[in-house]
Amino acid sequence: MSSFMDNDAAVLRDEIAELKKTRNALILAHVYQRPSVQHVADFTGDSLDLSRRAAETRADVIVFCGVRFMAETAGILNPGKTVLLPEPAAGCGLAETATAEQVRRKLEELPQQTAVVSYVNSATDVKAESYICCTSANAVQVAQSVPHEHILFVPDRNLASYVTERISKDVIPWDGHCYVHDPNISVEAIRDLKRLHPHALVMVHPECNAAVRRTADFVGSTSQMLDYAGGSDREMFIVGTEEGLHHPLKEQNPHKEFYFPGSVCSSMRLTTLSSVRRALDRMTNVVEVPEEVRDRAAVALNRMLEL
Ligand code: 13P
Ligand code: SF4
Repeated sequence: MSSFMDNDAAVLRDEIAELKKTRNALILAHVYQRPSVQHVADFTGDSLDLSRRAAETRADVIVFCGVRFMAETAGILNPGKTVLLPEPAAGCGLAETATAEQVRRKLEELPQQTAVVSYVNSATDVKAESYICCTSANAVQVAQSVPHEHILFVPDRNLASYVTERISKDVIPWDGHCYVHDPNISVEAIRDLKRLHPHALVMVHPECNAAVRRTADFVGSTSQMLDYAGGSDREMFIVGTEEGLHHPLKEQNPHKEFYFPGSVCSSMRLTTLSSVRRALDRMTNVVEVPEEVRDRAAVALNRMLEL
């Protein structure tokens, strides 16, 4: 049974490689994607790495194996290119907690000199309302760079509190959160793993709440966790983020052990080799970014990339 499945996967991989050449396509995959999908990607990485790759590519077509806000970011940074999202239903619950209209209304209550800093996990029209974007890898640096005293930080309340703990500005958090990190990764879940593996170091994503972050030896984005585990002389790690990260962690550190609390992003799991192949073959599920917001969103994204 499994050898049939292996054969199917090998056939799909070959077909994807052929289609990629025909279409002059680049495949980008977030590190939360299924291992089989990460294998066919030209680049895997966190949101910041992938935004940079998208901004630099000479390919005509970008296949984004991730969620909608990531594919839209690639589209904003590459107006002339075709961006495909193999699974159009792959949304992000966190990004959906803020609309542009709500952000504009909130700004009316705040001091005039308030800058909107939007996490890339946000809708394109929310980015268009922003002074600058950030990712979990550079949120503190971005907030520090903003020439305003007051920052409306949208949409993740946990990343906002992580930033607040590290800078002296007035950071007003939006009340959004990512269920994969909060509440699905809890202090109890980390403690249970710590009881089983008392010598393991704990690393967690800043989308986890402050109590979970306090249990950690290291807090960082997915790529920062990969660097931390790779650079450490320790052998065991408890990892407070989505389970997809297990694949690159293990691939880069085959002799180390990684224990996850078992939290999965259902949207990230939607993409499969079949959906990648289908999108490339039929050139379907093209991501359209409305022109009226694209240029303003590009200003906020490029400010981040220029930092
Ligand atoms: P990073 O890849 O930027 O760490 O973000 C994690 C995440 O939740 C993406 O959806
Ligand atoms: Fe959105 Fe959370 Fe899934 Fe990332 S892990 S895509 S923030 S729902």
